[in-house]
Amino acid sequence: MNAPIGVFDSGVGGLSVLREIQQQLPAESLLYVADSAYVPYGEKPPEQIRERSRLIAKFLIERGAKALVLACNTATAAAINDLRGEFDMPIIGMEPAVKPAALATRNGVVGVLATTGTLQSAKFAALLDRFARSVQVITQPCPGLVECVERGELTGPEVEALLQRYTAPLLAAGCDTVILGCTHYPFLRPILQRFLPAHVQVVDTGAAVARQLQVKLAESRQLSQQTAVATQFWSSGDPHRMSSILPTLLGSSSPVELLPV
Ligand code: DGL
Repeated sequence: MNAPIGVFDSGVGGLSVLREIQQQLPAESLLYVADSAYVPYGEKPPEQIRERSRLIAKFLIERGAKALVLACNTATAAAINDLRGEFDMPIIGMEPAVKPAALATRNGVVGVLATTGTLQSAKFAALLDRFARSVQVITQPCPGLVECVERGELTGPEVEALLQRYTAPLLAAGCDTVILGCTHYPFLRPILQRFLPAHVQVVDTGAAVARQLQVKLAESRQLSQQTAVATQFWSSGDPHRMSSILPTLLGSSSPVELLPV
């Protein structure tokens, strides 16, 4: 089936997932929505995130999406159950990689960098209960990091000060594995590595989500049989601003339209 896949996030963070999907599923056409007028989701009430997610899902489905990817841990925690109840199609979400990290840690101490919304969610509590009983998990909310990535600021004094502050408690606790629990953070990975000793492993979920998407599309016989058309982008914030940071985040430029919802 050659219909597109709809991908969305509170902003540009989901592009870290989009690039994995483009690599693993090059025949799939993609639609991407950045809800930048409402970023950061991490500090917003879950009801508001559910409402925005529903409107964006409807928008993408009206444009022909055959499947949805919530390329946002915070929106997945708040909204995926409701979306799956309302829309009958493959809907793939993201959650911090607690299970792989619990398997990968050698000393049993794992750190999670994520938004306040993700860390406070019932879904995250259930995830810890299911997969992290045998390890110690240190959670660290990271206000401010998402805003830096939204500005295309992947390095510089502000990002470095925030990363220094947020990695310090994880290192003090002895974490040997750090989970990137927000889709904006993989863009900061090169600079984050500077604040972590070489033995600390960093895990994120973008590639696993692309694999899961492939499995779900194959199961429902919906994998594309044609060549992909160029990805279409919308932003509820300033489309020109998003367009100007696409080359930094994705390595190529594209037009961005204003999201009409
Ligand atoms: N990129 C999002 C996530 O994965 C949310 C960031 C935000 O808007 O706070 O959690």
